Amino acid sequence: MEVVILPGAKPIAALAADAIEALLRNKPDAVLGLATGSSPLPVYEELERRHRRGLDFSRVRAFALDEYVGLPPGHPGSYREVIRREFTGRVNIRPENVHGPDGEAADVPAACRAFEEAIRAAGGVDLQLLGLGTDGHIGFNEPGSSLASRTRIKTLVEQTRRDNARFFSNLAEVPHHVITQGLGTILEARHVILLATGAQKAQAVRDLVEGPVAAICPASVLQLHPHVTVLLDEAAASSLRLADYYRHSYDSKPRWQGL
Ligand code: GLP
Repeated sequence: MEVVILPGAKPIAALAADAIEALLRNKPDAVLGLATGSSPLPVYEELERRHRRGLDFSRVRAFALDEYVGLPPGHPGSYREVIRREFTGRVNIRPENVHGPDGEAADVPAACRAFEEAIRAAGGVDLQLLGLGTDGHIGFNEPGSSLASRTRIKTLVEQTRRDNARFFSNLAEVPHHVITQGLGTILEARHVILLATGAQKAQAVRDLVEGPVAAICPASVLQLHPHVTVLLDEAAASSLRLADYYRHSYDSKPRWQGL
């Protein structure tokens, strides 16, 4: 796991966009794993800027991490809509190449299996963007999630519903149930880039990077992945014991290595 501590959201977005741009130049039909929440938004803005300067997404395939269950079609808070509004609708990804779990499915287990199969059929995710919940969740894998889990229905922790209420008109409107890629699914992505900013993420970041691998902090399972990059601002990194070592390692890293 590589931890990179940067001065703020802009340099974090630039570095994540560099990795995505390098991937697309090398593999124009790459499979991107997309996250929602506020953390990836500056990355999407940066990618949109680069698209206007010529970065091509026409052959890219994309898979969202998660979705709320039971929101009416077109609800602005649904992740299908968020992903379209904030990113895929702003670059030239073909709408039919953007996939997400089906939160309106009548048969949820069958929809979860079909989603897993679609990821497999696309050849797996090349680069997965992740945010981090204040309780250590990734996707919507709440504490207690099986570290081997696959795409399935989950019940949200109340703290997560409160954290996400800002995207709805009130707390009561936030669904209790979601469909999320499992931790086992996320671990199969070839490169994972997790973004976290702000002091409210500091404890979850410490548990993820330096705590034991344990279901109480689902993101800690990333310690088992061979290629994870954690991009942090100073506030999110403020509880890390080895922060100076991470800074030193990154500052002295041969630049040809990339992320
Ligand atoms: C939601 C999403 C997660 C995201 C988290 C953090 O719960 N399901 O994928 O990581 O929010 O969001 P933010 O980046 O807004 O803090």
